[in-house]
Amino acid sequence: MTTLGVAAIDQDRETIMQMAPVLAVVNRKGGAGKTSATHNIAGVWGTWGLRVCLVDLDTAFNLTEACGYPEELRQESGDWLASGIPEPWSVPGMPNCALVPSGARLAGGIERMEKLAIDRERYLGKVLAPLRRDFDVLLLDTKPDLDLSVTSALAAATHVLATALTLPQPIYGVVRSLGLVEDLREGVPDLRVVGFLPMAYNARGLRPAALGSMVEMAQEYGVICLPPIPYTEHAGKESQSHVPMALAYRNTAVGQHYRYAAALIGEQLGLTVPAEWLDRGRRLHEQMLREVLAA
Ligand SMILES: Nc1ncnc2c1ncn2[C@@H]1O[C@H](COP(=O)(O)OP(=O)(O)OP(=O)(O)O)[C@@H](O)[C@H]1O
Ligand SMILES: [Mg+2]
Repeated sequence: MTTLGVAAIDQDRETIMQMAPVLAVVNRKGGAGKTSATHNIAGVWGTWGLRVCLVDLDTAFNLTEACGYPEELRQESGDWLASGIPEPWSVPGMPNCALVPSGARLAGGIERMEKLAIDRERYLGKVLAPLRRDFDVLLLDTKPDLDLSVTSALAAATHVLATALTLPQPIYGVVRSLGLVEDLREGVPDLRVVGFLPMAYNARGLRPAALGSMVEMAQEYGVICLPPIPYTEHAGKESQSHVPMALAYRNTAVGQHYRYAAALIGEQLGLTVPAEWLDRGRRLHEQMLREVLAA
């Protein structure tokens, strides 16, 4: 190999290293907390000074609504997927965060991807690539079920996080999502599974048995099961205020747990996160494992 060749390879490697990580948030079950987790984790990262790009890949555009993207623009929005030119919109209630919105035109983009003869799953990654130079991290909110938009999100991602309710059915959803990740590993060898983010959407809290099975499943896959996000009555109000719960109620349990989660996930992605939250998150994680495994 010539010296020039080696230099070119080194340069390529450097370019890839400088590209922001891309986290896809998945669960094939509906209502499993994908959008809430995406919105809140992005909000926390933004307050830590990270430049975050949210991408709404769900034609139901819940994340776009939660961010307060103007209703009158939604008829046109989502056309970036067909045009191949994403234009991030600064989210007013979330410092350092921008949104690539969904809307009425996103479905047309997915149809366009379906018609591509070669490498359909790679199209999204190519479209998002320029954003990986402008932001520190990209967060992709996916839809329930499994279509080309979700497989493309996984193909475009460097990391994947599965949210999970503690009821049995969504747990199966997580397992199926991870099964898909296994399938994709061959085609996307660098895709790393961060793990599960359990959501305790029940005022009674989390059943230890349910959390236990999730912890065991995580160990089986060699990934982490994060400390659960607690139930809160504040959920749902962000569709009016457009401010993520983790920012609006930062001193409540849900605000603090989203900080632990944002620190632990951020560390996995190689982001710079505050040592204090990382340390507290690690301790909480260890305490959870002790409690769950002793039960
Ligand atoms: N910590 C919480 N406590 C109580 N309810 C919550 C909490 N977090 C989210 N929720 C509620 O749970 C519901 C489902 O959450 P979310 O929309 O995030 O799930 P999803 O997986 O994105 O759903 P879909 O598959 O439809 O896109 C929402 O009504 C949301 O307000
Ligand atoms: Mg959603």
